[in-house]
Amino acid sequence: MSISLIPTEAWEYAVGDALTAVLSLFEKDRDGHLNLKGIGECLPVRSGRVGILLSLKALNLKKNSGVGVPLYCCPVVFKAIKAAGYYPVFIDVDPQNYCLSLQDLAAKVPKIEALIAVHMFGHVADMPTILKIMEDKPVIEDCAQSLGSSINGKLTGTFGSISIFSFRSGKYISAGEGAAIYCREPGLKMRLENDIRSLPEPAQCEEIKHVVETYLRSQLRSWPLWGLAGSKIWKIYNKEVDFIKKSPIVLSQTFRSDLMTIKRRLTHLENLIKMQKRHAQYYLENLKIPQEMFCNEPPGYTYNRFMFPIKLRSEKEYKFLSNFLFNKNISTSRPYFDVIEGAARYYGYKGDCPLAEHLLKATLVIPVHYKLREKDLKYISNSVNLAWQRYQGF
Ligand SMILES: Cc1ncc(COP(=O)(O)O)c(C=O)c1O
Repeated sequence: MSISLIPTEAWEYAVGDALTAVLSLFEKDRDGHLNLKGIGECLPVRSGRVGILLSLKALNLKKNSGVGVPLYCCPVVFKAIKAAGYYPVFIDVDPQNYCLSLQDLAAKVPKIEALIAVHMFGHVADMPTILKIMEDKPVIEDCAQSLGSSINGKLTGTFGSISIFSFRSGKYISAGEGAAIYCREPGLKMRLENDIRSLPEPAQCEEIKHVVETYLRSQLRSWPLWGLAGSKIWKIYNKEVDFIKKSPIVLSQTFRSDLMTIKRRLTHLENLIKMQKRHAQYYLENLKIPQEMFCNEPPGYTYNRFMFPIKLRSEKEYKFLSNFLFNKNISTSRPYFDVIEGAARYYGYKGDCPLAEHLLKATLVIPVHYKLREKDLKYISNSVNLAWQRYQGF
């Protein structure tokens, strides 16, 4: 337990945010529109997972179709595929960017009727090649983590048939929940609009409960409560709650309070991304670890640097570094660590994604968020460098 533990993520939601969110519930003028700069008019939905589920249903694939998805992925996406009446076909990932492996996709494309292309950590999947491989099969772009990332100035979310953005706490726009679907095709968009409208609207009391919970959760994820209680609670939750029970899909329309927070926060997004990109650049220049452990932007690609993963060589190396950093009051994460076992047990994964499996075991994500100060960056860099030095002599 330590008051000075540096949180891995920025879960920004202060008392002022909570009050503004509650007050917005009493406004008469309820603007349900959501426009994402550089993308266009989107459909607000309760969460990214609901967005993926509705999008898959709207595609009207044959029952029990295979839907391609990278194994290195937030497992709630697998859940959405199953809930839509299909099954996931796991595709390996490219260690350069943690996104779909083009070779594995090309090999498995006959088995799938649609694809979810995930832009993991705000890195960008090679969408032009993916679309070529998929020919005329639909591609849903999962931009839950890649708001503002682009290829040659073209934003993620503008390549696929449908795209999903998430504003859940912990993301750039930490609104509690909330997500957006972008779809250019008018027929498909109308179907999605109708499906969203048919979902129940959260009652006023549910909205207020949601705001209070969002506020409390965000406090527990932020300094100083993260070190005093939050990190322990999350650790227990991750250990005790079964894989399949985590991250439920709750079907309803968007919380209006979230939508108001999202719109307000979007005006600062560019600034937040700029800060985080600067932090990532600091690490790229100051971490004295082998270059191949970083994910660099290929020419023409812009990453929003939502997260900063370090590709370690083994699970043992991961354990040493994460413990070392924790003892230095720096919390790190190993995202989706339970996916290999969970995907095998609940979604029929057969062990054919070796690169993703390695990354799931040996990735260390260090804090890069916009709340970090210059001195935090310096402290984190020095600590990682020291951990690395010690490991070499270990
Ligand atoms: C890659 C990815 N896809 C989908 C989702 C689902 O979004 P949400 O949490 O808003 O349902 C998330 C986030 O949790 C995610 O990280």
